[in-house]
Amino acid sequence: MNKTYDEIISVVRGDINNLESYITGDNFFAEAVLKSLILAPAKRIRSVIAFLFLRAYGLEISEKQLNLQCAVELAHTASLIHDDIIDKSEKRRGTYTLNSIYGDKYAVLAGDFTLTVAFNKIISLNNNSITEDFLKVFSEMVKGEISQLISKGKIPVLDEYMQKTRQKTAGLFAVSLKSAAILAGKTELAAGWRDFGYIFGTAFQIKNDLKDLDIDIKDGVYTAPVIFSHDAENITREAIEATKNLINQKLLRLEAFLDNLPQNKFSDALKELLELYKQ
Ligand code: IPE
Ligand code: MG
Repeated sequence: MNKTYDEIISVVRGDINNLESYITGDNFFAEAVLKSLILAPAKRIRSVIAFLFLRAYGLEISEKQLNLQCAVELAHTASLIHDDIIDKSEKRRGTYTLNSIYGDKYAVLAGDFTLTVAFNKIISLNNNSITEDFLKVFSEMVKGEISQLISKGKIPVLDEYMQKTRQKTAGLFAVSLKSAAILAGKTELAAGWRDFGYIFGTAFQIKNDLKDLDIDIKDGVYTAPVIFSHDAENITREAIEATKNLINQKLLRLEAFLDNLPQNKFSDALKELLELYKQ
């Protein structure tokens, strides 16, 4: 029997619980309009991966590491709040979106506010290179969304799609892991962890796009299966297979990378996580 996500991540459950009390602890999100989506259950996958890497190396989950992941999760949530306005989505994380409950105007402001709290946490780390990296990633995330918006209704070439995916999603996984290594004083590990983040984030988004294929086609957002079919109206079986192969190729590279980690229950959990994403 394959393990579920919750079973796999149980080895860092305590760290995630600490992180969640950090996110909600300082009363930034006291107002109802800010609270609902931030407190709704989420996978916290970006932080899970960072904690698994740190624990695999026997490194401490310090207060700074918690602040870092708090920033990662809040920046991610801010992007979801705005994304749900853009996409007119009604549900997210098993609950109603802010735009559907309070309207777009409040949701825009709630997303902005959430991003300022994320920045606050980054600045509290007192590390200029981490701050610069985050700024770059946030602006790349927005650029990825913009390029998706302006190319609506057009089938991109694969390179454009991969570039957008790297900007929109993978960058945050990458900066989360790179910064975790730097804060732990392991600068020699930072580039490897960053690259793991880029590759995992890309596979994660392509899988997500495969799941949302029908909705995206309706919205005129054309992802890997459409690109491989050369036609949004006729998705071929081969194109679906090619999309799955693309995801699996990336996961195989990551599997090989994990062989170089100390072998313990945390690196095992990372391997199991990759299995979960295989198609
Ligand atoms: C969903 O992100 C949006 C993408 C970037 C694909 P997650 O799947 O990480 O969403 P939560 O945080 O678990 O709700
Ligand atoms: Mg979207």
